[in-house]
Amino acid sequence: MENETLTVVDNRTGREYSLPIVDGAIRAPDLRQIAGPDGEGLVSFDPAYLNTASCRSAITYIDGDAGILRYRGYPIEQVAEQAGFLETAYLILEGELPTEDELQRWTDDVRRHTYVHTNIEEFMAGFRYDAHPMGMLLGAVGALSTFYPDAKHISDPENRYLQRVRLIAKLPTIAAFIFRHNRGLPYVLPRNDLGYIGNYVNMTFEIGGRHEPNPVLQRALEILFILHADHEQNCSTSAVRGVGSSHVDPFSAVSAGIAALYGPLHGGANEAVLNMLDVIGDVKNVPAFVEAVKDGSAGTRLMGFGHRVYKSYDPRATLIKQVADSVFAETGVDPKLKIALELERIALEDDYFVSRKLYPNVDFYSGLIYKAMGYPADYFTVLFALGRLPGWIAQWEEMLNDPEQKIARPRQLYTGSAERPYVPLDRR
Ligand code: ACO
Repeated sequence: MENETLTVVDNRTGREYSLPIVDGAIRAPDLRQIAGPDGEGLVSFDPAYLNTASCRSAITYIDGDAGILRYRGYPIEQVAEQAGFLETAYLILEGELPTEDELQRWTDDVRRHTYVHTNIEEFMAGFRYDAHPMGMLLGAVGALSTFYPDAKHISDPENRYLQRVRLIAKLPTIAAFIFRHNRGLPYVLPRNDLGYIGNYVNMTFEIGGRHEPNPVLQRALEILFILHADHEQNCSTSAVRGVGSSHVDPFSAVSAGIAALYGPLHGGANEAVLNMLDVIGDVKNVPAFVEAVKDGSAGTRLMGFGHRVYKSYDPRATLIKQVADSVFAETGVDPKLKIALELERIALEDDYFVSRKLYPNVDFYSGLIYKAMGYPADYFTVLFALGRLPGWIAQWEEMLNDPEQKIARPRQLYTGSAERPYVPLDRR
């Protein structure tokens, strides 16, 4: 609606201010016309961005109350069921589903860039045998910026396309190197006769030149990647945008996203879920564990539950449960699944979780699936990163193309000392 405004009355002065509402939001800079305590304009205070839109975005739509997730307008259920991962990546990056020709070109471009410089292999070899996979991933992706110094030409769309292809093509290669590094296995080089997922799985699991592909598990992994491909302004994406707003190259910006994803409150939650299931140990211990979470004595939250945006079932968790069925039919049921199902059953009936609208999120079942596929718990977040990559790059490019975007630079509410004279060392 045009000319919508919000009237604010300043009780200190009696003055009235009319703040325009544009696209359903007021703009924080409009508050500056109102006097703040220090004589400067009033600022808004929102430390964790609980109610602050940090950008305009046309990529992903979420309705957290209704449990809706759409990529470029397409429901996640339809994309996950019908699209491939590179097709989904194209959709997220370009805004439209690709034609057959466009998909072929995109797939060929990615296939052509799957190799990494052999110095990257040496770089990886420098990590300790037990280095955390996410630490290695963020280090290696940051290091890519030194191999492709041309990536700093971020205002050139053709150059951006090249870096986009490099990132999507090379991350699975690096991720597979990481997997093998932790096992002391020699790295397996990309096989460009295989598809995107098939090549990655082969680089990860091939032994002695042999790997028997399992199409059900490969499709399950592809669906998991699709389900993770973007999730609007989450912590890691905001990190990519924030760091990218300094106009650094995309490898550096994406490695900042990987760092954010590493944390247990974000992508690290799927690893934390498995650790939690280990601690619970048996179905009979579930009720006591839930009580201990509620009274704080467990010293942990119920990992894999709750979400900043979804206040009903996470639609990705629903889809992941279906994927879990197909995977466990192949691999056999993990005994921890019984604990997870009981945990979910009890939590969904418990007033503590119901009243706080805490439902299983995407991470609750993904760890169990990854484990059944043969990935160790500390590697799960790397798989999350492979899936989230198209989203990070698309959001980074959208940010660069936004004429309103400046370097991200929040304000603060200063709580420190007032001015005081410096005290020399011998008088302290
Ligand atoms: N278990 C127990 N209690 C919880 C949980 C949980 N998993 N999540 C939130 N709560 C409680 C909080 O203690 C708080 O209770 P209170 O009102 O009595 O103080 C209330 O629910 C609201 O919690 P907030 O921390 O304010 O919610 P926020 O939106 O900031 O947190 C988050 C969202 C970080 C995901 C949180 O639910 C959490 O820590 N979950 C566990 C970790 C997890 O699964 N993370 C993965 C998220 S999905 C992703 O990143 C892909």
